[in-house]
Amino acid sequence: MSLDLFSPLQLGAVRTPNRIYLAPLTRCRAEPGNVPCELNAEYYKQRASGGLLIAEATSVSPRGFGYPNTPGIFTDAHIAGWRKVTDAVHAAGGLIFLQLWHVGRISHPIFQPNGDAPVAPSAIRPRGQVFTGTGMEDYVTPRALDASEIPGIIAEYAHGAKAAKAAQFDGVEIHNANGYLLDQFLRDGTNQRTDSYGGPVENRSRLTLEVVKTVVDVWGADRVGIRFSPGGVFNDMRDSDPLRTFGYVLQQLEPLNLAFAHITRVTAQDLAHGAVEGIGPRELRPHYRGKIIANGGFTLESGNEALREGWADAVAFGVPFLANPDSPERFRRNAPLNEADPSTFYAPGAKGYTDYPALGA
Ligand SMILES: Cc1cc2nc3c(=O)[nH]c(=O)nc-3n(C[C@H](O)[C@H](O)[C@H](O)COP(=O)(O)O)c2cc1C
Repeated sequence: MSLDLFSPLQLGAVRTPNRIYLAPLTRCRAEPGNVPCELNAEYYKQRASGGLLIAEATSVSPRGFGYPNTPGIFTDAHIAGWRKVTDAVHAAGGLIFLQLWHVGRISHPIFQPNGDAPVAPSAIRPRGQVFTGTGMEDYVTPRALDASEIPGIIAEYAHGAKAAKAAQFDGVEIHNANGYLLDQFLRDGTNQRTDSYGGPVENRSRLTLEVVKTVVDVWGADRVGIRFSPGGVFNDMRDSDPLRTFGYVLQQLEPLNLAFAHITRVTAQDLAHGAVEGIGPRELRPHYRGKIIANGGFTLESGNEALREGWADAVAFGVPFLANPDSPERFRRNAPLNEADPSTFYAPGAKGYTDYPALGA
């Protein structure tokens, strides 16, 4: 039998029944205090037939927020809220990892404790605007973290990793993609530090590798993954030599035997935002022999092709899975897909969240 997205996969410590995974998707529907709720549990439960669900970006720190109504994972209330989600997914036979997040400079004083400036590797203001919940505001110039503060950031990831364990996730994905804090350290467009966390890639990748180590200490490597978006320009990101930057960090990670590296490729949407054809999982495969989850504009056909060509072991689906809670079954039957409604991606309530019909519903 030929290998395809319906084949099971041993992914570190978990065996996923298929290779059709839910990509992490911010949906801005947590309750006050950044606490997940029953509605979120319903949303994830509906998608439990995915081989693995990677739950939305979730802040490990009060300074890690940059959007309204996104979840956290550092208080007892966050743990209790996420427990509703993990219980619902497990009862439905699913597996769920949590994406650990710190936004760094992609924030605004209104989301920060005491109205402080957001923190970042360097004081470089992102071009663009932030959605505050009521309107759009320009990003502000972040405050460059002092080297003495970095152990505190790593401790926040350790605390978040422990809280995710208490919430009974099956594992965690470290969010090193899409222009947030770890990506800001890794790429030279946002990191102009002159200390041991800036300069050559050996230094720019230091925080990533230290965070990986601390999270692995909590979970074991076989329940930890990491996400990269090497060709992405979202959040005003760039790097002068992405193949070297991301190739280096993947080579450093390989001996740790993480559960996976999750790598996005440049999509039509990225191209519309000014990306040029960039590198992705195909180009990085020679630098990493561990399991690769590929993401970005895949269909059943192109996902199967990536598996056959050997540069993906599984595929994460974002927008298609958002609109089709029973994606694996639809793919299996070659059934038509529901269209996603972008106007409800970040809107409150059940509309465009838990009301996409399954087949036959
Ligand atoms: C509404 C929405 C929310 C997203 N939230 C996240 C997120 O929380 N973390 C993340 O790493 N990527 C996030 N992404 C990116 C997706 O995970 C994925 O990379 C992107 O949708 C491309 O994959 P697709 O073509 O299968 O949709 C988000 C994308 C969308 C459309």
